[in-house]
Amino acid sequence: MHDYFQKHRLLLAPMAGVSDEAFRTLCREQGADLTYTEMVSAKGLSYANEKTRHLLNLAAGEEQVAVQLFGHEPDTMAAQAAWIEQEMGESLAYLDINMGCPARKIVSKGDGSALMKDPALAARIVRSVADAVEHPVTVKFRRGWAMGDESAPEFARRMEDAGAAAVAVHGRFAEQLYRGSADWGVIARVREAVSVAVVGNGDVRSGSDAVAMLERTGCNAVMIARAAEGNPWLFAQAKAALAGRAEPAMPSVDERIAMARRHARLLSEREGKNIVRMRKHAMWYLAGLPGAAAARGKINACVTVEDFDSVFDELVERAHHAS
Ligand SMILES: Cc1cc2nc3c(=O)[nH]c(=O)nc-3n(C[C@H](O)[C@H](O)[C@H](O)COP(=O)(O)O)c2cc1C
Repeated sequence: MHDYFQKHRLLLAPMAGVSDEAFRTLCREQGADLTYTEMVSAKGLSYANEKTRHLLNLAAGEEQVAVQLFGHEPDTMAAQAAWIEQEMGESLAYLDINMGCPARKIVSKGDGSALMKDPALAARIVRSVADAVEHPVTVKFRRGWAMGDESAPEFARRMEDAGAAAVAVHGRFAEQLYRGSADWGVIARVREAVSVAVVGNGDVRSGSDAVAMLERTGCNAVMIARAAEGNPWLFAQAKAALAGRAEPAMPSVDERIAMARRHARLLSEREGKNIVRMRKHAMWYLAGLPGAAAARGKINACVTVEDFDSVFDELVERAHHAS
């Protein structure tokens, strides 16, 4: 996949509850070269769960997406990967397997980063999935499971041997959750350990961070998660920085609110009238604006596009008064 990542160097990370069609659309428009779905339960798919299947829908105009599966049963994972491939065809860029999620409800079932504690099972999963599909299979994992125990380079080697076409590494231990800072050194050490492509992830917050991660670690692509929340413009900034151009100016208040309105509309096209998921996005877009903190209560009562619009109207007026 080295060639693929030469043309797709900026990736929007998989984010449960966030990287849906609406958010992916906005990030792609700003310059994300590839986006991931939210993590999709292999078990849920195997029960033909509608909510789970919904996660595989592409946005209007979205050509391709990487689908991230989670689970721990090699056969279920392989069967569902084959089903996804058949359903999605050309719109599937590749299949990624989640071995990094540290959330208790995921890990307690043996999914996500729990697989870093059982590399033999992790390898069996990768082998089964890779045998079941023609698309490339990639694995996303962390620096290691236990604090201080950096198992990622060796783990990456095992995943490569099992058939992974690329690996993505987030430079935190699973036990660390999101505390402290991401270690980029581990990305370089994984880069040295394997010959497949390596995607670097963790704490990229600006265009210059993206450039620095590529330069310092030798990774093939950069994956961005939290810093894009409420800030899809980060991809335009990173794109400019990677091309050696000056980074575009930060968005104005009006641009931020216009993006938030558009996000609400895209979400309602997907989810219908009830767009509670927009509440957190609204807070992210508005962070730091005058009146935003005070509007939190109102935002948390919003359900429809119109509800959000009226809060945004008030904030625009307030921001213009203040300036
Ligand atoms: C709200 C949220 C949801 C996430 N969901 C997933 C997920 O579904 N699959 C996954 O592999 N990682 C998930 N992650 C982890 C991110 O993909 C990424 O590895 C991590 O946030 C570090 O990158 P960052 O520093 O750019 O945020 C999630 C992170 C956040 C904040």
